[in-house]
Amino acid sequence: MYEGDIASVLISEEQIRARTAELAEDIAKRYPTGAPEGDLLLIGVLKGAVFFMTDFARALPIPSQMEFMAVSSYGSSTSSSGVVRILKDLDKDIAGRHVLIVEDIIDSGLTLSWLMRNLKTRNPASLEVVTLLRKPDAVKIDVDVRDVGFDIPNEFVVGYGLDYAERYRDLPYIGTLDPEVYGG
Ligand code: XMP
Ligand code: MG
Repeated sequence: MYEGDIASVLISEEQIRARTAELAEDIAKRYPTGAPEGDLLLIGVLKGAVFFMTDFARALPIPSQMEFMAVSSYGSSTSSSGVVRILKDLDKDIAGRHVLIVEDIIDSGLTLSWLMRNLKTRNPASLEVVTLLRKPDAVKIDVDVRDVGFDIPNEFVVGYGLDYAERYRDLPYIGTLDPEVYGG
């Protein structure tokens, strides 16, 4: 599939599966089951986080519920400005709930900073983040992200939800794109 477009496999299907299981086990320990706040509420950020969200939820040994948001970041195609627009908001109130944002990738971190500030104003009982991937620039941000699947080099990656012009999301692994694809 996509023959010739993928330069290298950065993270294999098996590596993703194993790391997701570890993260789910660790994170579950922090949330008491049967709490009066209700089940852990996962908030997935569309569309990139969809595959990670569903695999993570199934790996979690505690009950969880799912909501989705879609946001778009203003800025050039290569960097986000930190000005974010909500394309799809949550359907439910999150006040008093234990909320875990499930992200695909943190690059500059501007999108996530904005999202954290926005969701905090809705008064959740707690608000944390788990991201599958993190790029080097993310170390500069003020958001404390405890749970990271993989720290990756500063390269454009696709697959497992991540796209280039909406393509490659359906690849089961994370790969780097052949520069020919960008060049057109
Ligand atoms: P910031 O910079 O605000 O942006 O942390 C995070 C968002 O940028 C997109 N992004 C990527 N998408 N491959 C992608 O397919 C990448 O290598 C990549 N780096 C950043 C992504 O939408 C993410 O939510
Ligand atoms: Mg994208």
